[in-house]
Amino acid sequence: MSTSQNWSSSLKFILVAAGSAVGLGNIWKFPQLVAENGGSAFILIYIACILILGIPLLILEFSIGKTSKSNSLDTILHFNKNSFLKHSYLLYIIGAFLLMSFYFIVSGWTLSYFVESITGGISYNPNLENSYYQNVLGSLFSNPKKLILYTLAIILITYYINSKDIQKGIERLNFVLFPVLFLILIILIIKVLTLNNISEGLKFYFYPDFSKVTINTFINALGQTFFSLSLGTGTMIVYSSYLKKEINIIKASIYTSIIGSLVGIFSGLIIIPSLFSFNLPLSGGTGLTFISLPLIFSQIYLGKYLAIIFFFMMLIATITSTISMLETILPYFMKKCNLTRQKSALLISFIVLILSIPNSLSFNVLSNLTLFKLNIFEQVVYLENNILLTLGSLLITIYGIYFIKDTLKAEISNYLSPFIMNLWIFLIKFIIPLIIIVIIIKEIINS
Ligand code: PHE
Repeated sequence: MSTSQNWSSSLKFILVAAGSAVGLGNIWKFPQLVAENGGSAFILIYIACILILGIPLLILEFSIGKTSKSNSLDTILHFNKNSFLKHSYLLYIIGAFLLMSFYFIVSGWTLSYFVESITGGISYNPNLENSYYQNVLGSLFSNPKKLILYTLAIILITYYINSKDIQKGIERLNFVLFPVLFLILIILIIKVLTLNNISEGLKFYFYPDFSKVTINTFINALGQTFFSLSLGTGTMIVYSSYLKKEINIIKASIYTSIIGSLVGIFSGLIIIPSLFSFNLPLSGGTGLTFISLPLIFSQIYLGKYLAIIFFFMMLIATITSTISMLETILPYFMKKCNLTRQKSALLISFIVLILSIPNSLSFNVLSNLTLFKLNIFEQVVYLENNILLTLGSLLITIYGIYFIKDTLKAEISNYLSPFIMNLWIFLIKFIIPLIIIVIIIKEIINS
């Protein structure tokens, strides 16, 4: 996307923002968190977080981006020269690299499932056992070369799209992505509902058991809110810096949040109950989605073809997210290092490749290197999702409070009644920072 280009209509912008929001966070991470955090109680807390923090913060990020005159994070977050926060935008630069260092790897798994579903490397056949699909993932994880090559492929695709001006093609792809993705999710939900012994799984997914709720449930739900809406990374700020004046950011925030959370909730409804039906453990961790989905496809007539379409859609959903991650810091590097768009994209891609190597190796060569029972990859995911995104969101509220009086208020008042606007300001000024600070303190005590 070149700076001269603007998102021309509200629908286009919603699709682009939802393109960033919907990705692995919803399809891969959300079901895993539901499984590990007591099922439906987690979902309810997540929905509350979306309403109380997600939507107001998205409105804040969109309004900061839209009213800024730049697309480079250091210029957008212009704190007073003497303020200790003047270099705070570096949090987003570091966060973006950390995020890309694991996200591109999981996108690579998606690519490998897509490719191997086509080539027959993965079979879909109702006679195959759970262990077959566990071995498929196991053999991918134990092959560092393959993991790195698939990650490299995602890096190259993302680099190519960001460095060229083929953004228009992506916009068009988004028009197809969401309807097809929702259609497949609904077909899969219908299939899952007809599986054997599904009632126990449905109960786990819909009947909240609050006895399982701990402070960790809240920490994870908050982290997931930020991750699934691409908040606290600067991404939505940079994206909305291309917005035209007449675009309604309130509508965009609400629709983006609804699309993002629905994809997550639908994916969970497919994956979680089917674990019960297939007798798979809820503690499947990182690989959960990549084991239960193929198992469901194996039970469906012509499942191979559905698998190919599904993994292709999942791939598009992740690539619209990886593009947005690279775009977050691209203008900054162009400006800071005086580089062209291509060279800046190349530099960032190279750094991401280097950083992703230890993460890929943590499933095989470096699997013994653990801290608190988490390998390097899991440490990085935790650090990014539960700490950096939280700090990033706190930073953006501080910035918002700083500037809320004039510019932002003027922008927001175009779309909100005075009552709702005051409620929004109250949330941004008091409630959201308070929740974030409490969670940060709890996390420090926890660790
Ligand atoms: N929201 C994306 C997802 O859920 C991940 C993401 C986070 C993208 C931050 C951009 C910035 O997959």
